[in-house]
Amino acid sequence: MSIDWKQLFAAAETARKRAYAPYSKFAVGAAVLADDGTIHLGCNVENASYGLTLCAERNALARVVVDGKKPVALAIVVDSRRPTPPCGACRQVIYELLPPDAPVITRTPRGKQTKYTAAKLLPDAFGPRDL
Ligand code: THU
Repeated sequence: MSIDWKQLFAAAETARKRAYAPYSKFAVGAAVLADDGTIHLGCNVENASYGLTLCAERNALARVVVDGKKPVALAIVVDSRRPTPPCGACRQVIYELLPPDAPVITRTPRGKQTKYTAAKLLPDAFGPRDL
């Protein structure tokens, strides 16, 4: 499947604008492309009880699962100096749900980007095969 990254990042940017991040002011947008071509958005959702914060990536991935699809690519947008890499918790969920060679690209609004694969984000991962 060829991936329309322009479209996927436009969706991630839409999600970023909906971030609820009054505490950190660090708005994150994510867009997951599913196997049927649909795009699923996620943003970070913070809470006054800080530890309950939900990350954008995991929100988007959960929505793909709810819709009964399989994730094939992930785009992340943060307005920061360097492209923001996914946090450790999100890497574990990315490892679980995306194919190992699935592209994960993180980008600033100015287009500076870093590209990973799901497998590269979490070497020696604990996963379904370990159970
Ligand atoms: N955040 C994400 O949404 N994704 C990440 O991978 C890194 C961190 C959010 C959580 C919190 O709302 C804010 O960014 C600052 O940590």
